[in-house]
Amino acid sequence: MKTHKIAVIAGDGIGPEVIDQGIRVLNEIAKLDGSFNFEFTHFPWGCEYYKETGKMMADDGIETLKGFDAIFLGAVGAPGVPDHISLWDLLLIIRKKFDQYINLRPVKLLKGAPTPLKDVAPEDIDMLFIRENSEGEYAGSGSWLFKGKPNEVVIQNGVFSRKGCERVIRYAYELAKAQGKTLTSISKGNALNYSMVFWDQIFEEVGKDYPEVKTYSYLVDAASMFMVKDPKRFEIVVTSNLFGDILTDLGAAIAGGMGLAAGANLNPEREFPSMFEPIHGSAPDIAGMNISNPMATFWSVSQMLDFFGYEKWGEKVLSCIEEMLVENKTLTPDLGGTAKTSEVGDRFIEKLCE
Ligand code: NAD
Ligand code: IPM
Ligand code: MN
Repeated sequence: MKTHKIAVIAGDGIGPEVIDQGIRVLNEIAKLDGSFNFEFTHFPWGCEYYKETGKMMADDGIETLKGFDAIFLGAVGAPGVPDHISLWDLLLIIRKKFDQYINLRPVKLLKGAPTPLKDVAPEDIDMLFIRENSEGEYAGSGSWLFKGKPNEVVIQNGVFSRKGCERVIRYAYELAKAQGKTLTSISKGNALNYSMVFWDQIFEEVGKDYPEVKTYSYLVDAASMFMVKDPKRFEIVVTSNLFGDILTDLGAAIAGGMGLAAGANLNPEREFPSMFEPIHGSAPDIAGMNISNPMATFWSVSQMLDFFGYEKWGEKVLSCIEEMLVENKTLTPDLGGTAKTSEVGDRFIEKLCE
């Protein structure tokens, strides 16, 4: 019996309720399969912890997490704690310390999922975003000079290293090659005359090793327009940290909403644990009401199963999500239903066992 050790950081707001359902699903799959199981260790880190201790996680938090095979994260952020503190001291620090430089975010319209776009079939929206997840606009480099004075100045640096750009772009080419798909790079070299010119150059350089991969390169403004007007032109997409953040919320909006959008933060070398999460936030507006959609978390469970090499189970989870969308009976309000978070979990488990 193979045991996978999972660190659970349920976090704030709707985080705990969606993660509870995700754990039920993982346990059920382990039971159905019989050859592996999961050992969950819960960490109480997040904004409540911060209010009690002044810290978002324990001092030895990163050291402790190193011993796990994966991290399962709900959401971080709560009114009363500044977002740049709560997110930097927990989510972003984990991504960076564990060199989770690949952020895989599927933007795929499942059958039965709502889209605000006209005349679009599920097969027209089927993209995989590869977001650079370790540096770029999120490098955390800058300064705040003359704070509070009339001559106050803030500087936020983008950091684009050759190593950082090459490794994410190469990962994207490898995936496009393996899957026989096109690869689109999204950047902004016309305005960001250092960082994005460099990014475009590296996209071309690395591309020389992949003559079989058909590529496109778009400016981020045009790409946003095309995602809405003609989403089928995108297959595999590679982009910077900030652009990937913004475009994948746009992607969520065209592919069923935040309640269906998942992301995997991968350290491909497996030197450190990878982290799996729904990409939505803590949704303070609906927290505690048991109406949050746990499907995005189920999708991240599917990504975790793929990562552990249980691709059949990963596919099964996706097809159960799709069946529930088509069935259109047990869905949360964001998808037009009246079901509670836990009822979606109940029905999902039934589906898994069918
Ligand atoms: P949000 O994703 O929390 O919410 C945006 C909207 O989507 C809200 O109306 C919310 O109700 C809805 N929504 C989100 N997830 C849903 C779900 N599973 N089911 C149904 N509806 C859902 O974004 P926000 O309001 O901009 O941010 C709230 C807090 O979360 C902030 O503190 C922010 O910094 C933080 N945040 C954290 C993460 C993370 O931990 N990964 C991601 C984004 C935002
Ligand atoms: C996401 C989130 C985070 C990000 C925030 C909460 C720091 O929006 O995972 O998409 O920008 O990466
Ligand atoms: Mn985001």
